[in-house]
Amino acid sequence: MLVIAMAVGAQNEWVTIQNGLLWKTETGDVVQAHAPGFLKVGERWYMCGEDRSVPFSPDVNLYSSTDLQHWRFENKIIKNRVTTEELGRSRMIERPKLLYNAKTGKYLVWCHYESSNYGASEAACFECDSVNGDYRFVWGGRPLGIKSRDCNVYQDTDGTAYFISTTEENQHLGLFRLSDDYREAVEHTQLFPRQSREAPAIVRLPEGRYFMFNSACSGWAPNQCKMAYTMNLKEGWTPLENIGNPIAYDTQAAAILEIKGTKATTYLYVGDRWQDPSLPATKTIIFPISFDGTECKFEYHERFDINFETGEWRETPTEGIFADNTKWKTLEQDDEHITIDMGKKQSIKGFIAKPREKAGERWLIRRYQLLTSKDGKTWDTASEGRWLPYWTEVDFESRECRYIKLVSPDARMRSVEEVVVVKG
Ligand code: DGJ
Repeated sequence: MLVIAMAVGAQNEWVTIQNGLLWKTETGDVVQAHAPGFLKVGERWYMCGEDRSVPFSPDVNLYSSTDLQHWRFENKIIKNRVTTEELGRSRMIERPKLLYNAKTGKYLVWCHYESSNYGASEAACFECDSVNGDYRFVWGGRPLGIKSRDCNVYQDTDGTAYFISTTEENQHLGLFRLSDDYREAVEHTQLFPRQSREAPAIVRLPEGRYFMFNSACSGWAPNQCKMAYTMNLKEGWTPLENIGNPIAYDTQAAAILEIKGTKATTYLYVGDRWQDPSLPATKTIIFPISFDGTECKFEYHERFDINFETGEWRETPTEGIFADNTKWKTLEQDDEHITIDMGKKQSIKGFIAKPREKAGERWLIRRYQLLTSKDGKTWDTASEGRWLPYWTEVDFESRECRYIKLVSPDARMRSVEEVVVVKG
């Protein structure tokens, strides 16, 4: 769920995007579009993705939005056992990605088309006359005979489109130039040989430099995002360099969006926070990244504001949202808990455990309790569970208290940099 108010249709306002929560449609259903692909048609962003409500046999859903937070369900554009006989039986779809071909006027989905043991190593292409219709199967198999898994697409400014996938048993990345109608791969260029990268996402900056973000192959577990750049998609890529923290802020790249406005262009990284904690509960994470020549600033934002009219983004003003912690006192702290005196009684309704930048997955607090107290002696449980989501606001029933205690039964408190409290 991307929350926070914006008058509907008021495009000249700041929209707050809050990360880590389930996205919901305007009618309250959970958005199921993982490893999403995006296409802007007029003022609307279309997003297709894996429907993981049936975890290992996803259909492909399509949603649309003008602000990446109010989502309308458009259609189940590819359906198991309907779109093709084998889909939902001997094949499943991962990473469906959208393209529009201006010459043919058709919309296409390219994706990973796989068997349950990932042995098929195929891609597939589907096509439709409208963006939100029922897509028809065009082709499935190994592009140019090459084993192909995790993937994405990229459409260049001259209209040339590419399918990019992890090739030959996860060894390399393959850049496949597509035919003029985007229905088949016609040329292959091997990139990053034997570096086992997947989840590629490419963006081109106005000066003509292409940046690629990708991950290692570690199943659903997050790992270090790396980045490289070039002036020519087929050659000259720099060596991959680490970017962001060792678990990409608990995400894996899906897309880089360009929000072009009247004053600025903001680039938004979109990634999947897989299995948070289950596959159907995977979250879509979005945060702004920025470029300065060949440098990229890649930092997580638990929330940020974006103005779709001007294209600008800013840090969300937090005075009204988070409790002022400048006068807080830490009363006790060890690996299992931290007790904080907030100095005065106040009404609170949530907290965020902000992880240390370098905290790896195995150090994150998952089992937790958040206790509150008025007098520092008698404690109530405000929230507890087996899964504390990464750097995400956890809400509970509003309550008055002066003291808070975060408990990590697995002794992982040292992975927390800061506890932030949400005003009630
Ligand atoms: C990571 C890939 O990026 C996903 O698309 C999916 O294939 C999982 N691995 C499966 O473990």
